[in-house]
Amino acid sequence: MTLTDQEIEAARRATFDLGPGYPQIALPGYLRSAYLEERIVEDVALANPPAWDTTWQAAVDTGLEEAVRSMLRLPAGSYDSVSPALSGSVALDRALVAALAMSGDDGHRSTINVVTTTPSIDIMPLFLGERSQVVTRYAHSRDGDPATLDRDAVLRRIADVRASTNTGLVVLLTSPENPTGAVWRPEDLKAIGDACFEAGGVLVVDHTFLTAGVHGRADVECTWQAFGAGEDWIAIWDTGKTFGLNGDKLGFLVSGSTRTTDAVRRSLSVMQYDVSRRQKVLFAELFRRAARMDYVGHLTSVCCRNLAVAADMVTARSGLRIRRPAAGSLLLLELPPGADDERTRCRLLRAGIGVVAGSVFFHAGPRPRNLLRVALARDPDYFADGFSRLIEHVTEG
Ligand SMILES: Cc1ncc(COP(=O)(O)O)c(C=O)c1O
Repeated sequence: MTLTDQEIEAARRATFDLGPGYPQIALPGYLRSAYLEERIVEDVALANPPAWDTTWQAAVDTGLEEAVRSMLRLPAGSYDSVSPALSGSVALDRALVAALAMSGDDGHRSTINVVTTTPSIDIMPLFLGERSQVVTRYAHSRDGDPATLDRDAVLRRIADVRASTNTGLVVLLTSPENPTGAVWRPEDLKAIGDACFEAGGVLVVDHTFLTAGVHGRADVECTWQAFGAGEDWIAIWDTGKTFGLNGDKLGFLVSGSTRTTDAVRRSLSVMQYDVSRRQKVLFAELFRRAARMDYVGHLTSVCCRNLAVAADMVTARSGLRIRRPAAGSLLLLELPPGADDERTRCRLLRAGIGVVAGSVFFHAGPRPRNLLRVALARDPDYFADGFSRLIEHVTEG
């Protein structure tokens, strides 16, 4: 079962849904009311020419770009482009297509090596498996600890690709990682990016959890901070893990160079005419209000509180352990030796508790079967209730 299949099962069947990473928390009134703004619906979303004109369209686009730049703290006017996409996975898919086209020299190279990490979300291997010219090379975490990222393992994989002839290179990282919450340190991100660029490759970094989780903003080095403008990098961010809006979401692609901007524009134009005008004005408004009211700080405090509650409940039980995430809004719960994550997930689901089996995140090498992924971005009472039932069920065996 894919990660998405498991998340859908949890969302549809569990009374206590601790599966998907999308927040399910009471939306603060200042965000809720943005949905009811008549100005957005009547004057913007549903207006057509001749009442609507191109200067207003430009204002909508600029408004979204300014709002997302302030949300991500992207310096104004720098970097060639910030492009909206229909969701995070669309943004990631299009970033990969753009990077593959660039490193494949638009079809002149027969193979492209993609260096990426395991454990990581399975949409990466699933996307890559759809493309016949791609060879995926996994860098494992260090010393068998899933949450310890290994810069040297990535650099070795890049060196392997350099040693082979006429192949393109794409390096695909995620920071913070899903499911471990691991973060690439600034010096490691820099070393990997520099090696990638030196080899003529394209760096894609998924920062989806940048604004969602137990960490502070300064704890995550962003691609734009590490490399500035001019290099061939594409960064991804999406709204889904930060704003829980039951499926309303946008993805964004930030490009580091004019080459990546051109490739991103081409890949996006295959897929989408445009994001709807309503989504553009709605999300611009949500970002402005979120920045003013420190919504990210609110989400962080919810996740931290739930992490503390989970840690307390687990220390009272023998045989279980939590792996504290450095960042992000997900928790890995370690089951006693001999446990089977998928069987445990199904048993929990029958008891009304939705989680994700950890083995789905391991794509090469050893595949631990004793990890469950639990979402922290839930209302605290609901989380405490759901997590205590989860513990009861897994310890009952
Ligand atoms: C790291 C990461 N990137 C991208 C995505 C895809 O986002 P979406 O489901 O909003 O398309 C996910 C979803 O789980 C994710 O965890």
